Amino acid sequence: MEEKQLIGELNRILTLEHGHLGMYRDFIDHEEKEIRRTFRRFAEIEAEHVEKVKSILYNLGAKPSFVVEGGDIIGSLFGFTINKAASIKDIIKIYSAIEKKSHEGYAAFVSKIEQDADNRNRFLAEIVSSNMLESHLMHLWLEDKLRTM
Ligand SMILES: [Fe+2]
Repeated sequence: MEEKQLIGELNRILTLEHGHLGMYRDFIDHEEKEIRRTFRRFAEIEAEHVEKVKSILYNLGAKPSFVVEGGDIIGSLFGFTINKAASIKDIIKIYSAIEKKSHEGYAAFVSKIEQDADNRNRFLAEIVSSNMLESHLMHLWLEDKLRTM
């Protein structure tokens, strides 16, 4: 993969990760204790994802930048708008769909760069694959939660 394309993809991922962080950042507002605890940890995981992608960009000598500036990143990138009155079940449904998309997006990115002729890019695939795994784990937790609601 060309350097410019790689940096573009990473910045797009960074923007999405920022959106994910925004989903869980207000964990304290949820009524149910299990959701508060889980979303608090998910917020920490998403913050780690943001930092990991940022540090890859810095180490490539690139500047982290958002593909979509401010506002409703999730709405503009995923086509979901979460209204304030949405039930927790609906919110979890949307988050689950977003984590599924995230996992699929990472899987496509990882498989692209792990086949790269460039050793460095193959190594990057190993670093970002942990984000891929964690988006899958979050998706599975959300799906499991939905089954009991
Ligand atoms: Fe994430």
